[in-house]
Amino acid sequence: MDQRSPAVSKVTVPVILERKLRGEKITCLAAYDYSFGRLVDEADIDMILVGDSLAQVVLGYDSTVPVTVEEILHHVKAVRRAVRRSLLIADLPYGAYHVDDEQALASAIRFLKEGGAEAVKLEGGRVRAQRVRKLVQAEIPVVGHIGLTPQSVHALGGYRVQGRTLDSATELLADAEALEEAGAFAIVLEGIPRELAALITRRLRIPTIGIGAGPECDGQVLVLHDLLGLSFQPAAKFVRHYANLRETIHGALTRFRADVAQGSYPADHESYHWPPEVCRQFEKETTRST
Ligand code: KIV
Repeated sequence: MDQRSPAVSKVTVPVILERKLRGEKITCLAAYDYSFGRLVDEADIDMILVGDSLAQVVLGYDSTVPVTVEEILHHVKAVRRAVRRSLLIADLPYGAYHVDDEQALASAIRFLKEGGAEAVKLEGGRVRAQRVRKLVQAEIPVVGHIGLTPQSVHALGGYRVQGRTLDSATELLADAEALEEAGAFAIVLEGIPRELAALITRRLRIPTIGIGAGPECDGQVLVLHDLLGLSFQPAAKFVRHYANLRETIHGALTRFRADVAQGSYPADHESYHWPPEVCRQFEKETTRST
């Protein structure tokens, strides 16, 4: 059943910017398909990110590096069909914007035109500022992403908290300011100390969306599967499990297997039946032929 009221008040980029001015927190979840997209939308979460975390969470890759534009696009389309209120953001995967501005534009345009996304996200700070400017000039809203950027796992040497020293914190602050200056409308801060995230949040006019970056960010993003306890990877320190769906699903599947094995599923009320006149005809036929 559709839980959504007919008068949905659509979340747009200006609405997100306004939230920062009003000091109202922003919620965002990474989700990847129609059913979860609907649940997230119906729960009035402000933004849905079809993140490249899709690679590990849904497609079973080791990192986010291998996932392609085609794979993410397929999922963006599914979420698009589900979402009415939330702002839909598509993640540009590794390799889809690293070659040059034209490649970045072509990739982002596909997500908007074919996928129905309303914004794109890309990783990197000052080194990506020019790309962000180009996309914004083409009317494409952009979310930046700095700190622990999973697409740089090989360059970073693993998934490590970033910005722990004053020098690296200063670099990240400069990255955030460059992205804002280039026209990004929000920035994901991932895996950085709370104190640094608070400083960046105070310095920027655009909202910061934290993941492992403490409570002072303007908003928070999590991977939906982590929040629901549906992931197969060890949870990071910042993940709060609001449910344990792995356990729930395992229990349900185990009961189904047992019910089928002992013949208690399906029951009579879960079966279709002949209408009474067909039953009578059948009985007549079988008595005649015996
Ligand atoms: O891919 C993703 O899900 C993300 C968020 C966790 C920020 O980039």
